[in-house]
Amino acid sequence: GSDQLHSCHRKAMEALGLGNRALRRIPTDAGLRIDIDALRAAITEDRQAGFRPACVIGTAGTVNTGAIDDLQALARLAAQEDLWFHVDGCIGALIAIAPENSHRVAGIEHAHSIALDPHKWLHAPFEVGCVLIRDASAHRSTFAVTPEYLESTPRGLASGQWLHDFGLQTSRGFRALKVWMALKQHGIEKFGRLIDQNIAQGQYFSGLIEAEPTLELTAPTSINIVCFRYRGDGLTGERQKALNTEIMLRLQEDGIAALSDTTVHGQHCLRAAINNHRTRRDDLDLLVRETVR
Ligand SMILES: Cc1ncc(COP(=O)(O)O)c(C=O)c1O
Repeated sequence: GSDQLHSCHRKAMEALGLGNRALRRIPTDAGLRIDIDALRAAITEDRQAGFRPACVIGTAGTVNTGAIDDLQALARLAAQEDLWFHVDGCIGALIAIAPENSHRVAGIEHAHSIALDPHKWLHAPFEVGCVLIRDASAHRSTFAVTPEYLESTPRGLASGQWLHDFGLQTSRGFRALKVWMALKQHGIEKFGRLIDQNIAQGQYFSGLIEAEPTLELTAPTSINIVCFRYRGDGLTGERQKALNTEIMLRLQEDGIAALSDTTVHGQHCLRAAINNHRTRRDDLDLLVRETVR
């Protein structure tokens, strides 16, 4: 994956017993997308060193800036190299249902597996993470172990597929119910339109930042995440970070906006993730006014 991978992949590698160092972070370009040539070179280099690359992770919507990797190129490369192609689409996989923006995630349909979060852009109450795996038998054989008390029977309560054969949990709640009900109630088109709306608001907010001389974008805006900072006359480094952190905290404490912050390629910035279906352009105008104040 890229140097913008979410930290959950590190946890996964450590939980798998492979260790953090087995997760190769490939550099990204100016748009914070994985550098495909560098990835190809790293695969060759690892093979030459006696390692066995297994999986390419593309990100559809990085947590820092919302960047979307070139999923078509990654799918091609994974196929050429005979590697599993996983897409971390926790933020952006659902862009596939947004008519004006679905082109941004072209190639996602080639993934062997996709992670997505209905508690983000399907507005489901926390929490309901989801993974889609193309090959159901590979999925089942990865997790299935049959203890004596859970053998299947031809009829009766134990005649279906056991869900615990598809993951680590045995007992588990019916999280999918709230997603299914929301889709039944509102329909997929409405959720798609709301994603388009948030992405348009991301563009609008970026425009406001660019038009405001005391603010600057610190990364290109791809979807609904906008990274920016207050310039602060002549301030750099830790002092600029301290000023921006103070602005963020005051905006939070005054109930203006729930901004967060992050550091991208060594640059600290404020981060607005516009995910709410109630957000209006007026709210974004207010946020700029209050940030500058
Ligand atoms: C790109 C990305 N991947 C993975 C995750 C982890 O997802 P969750 O918080 O649902 O475990 C997040 C969460 O923000 C994310 O943005």
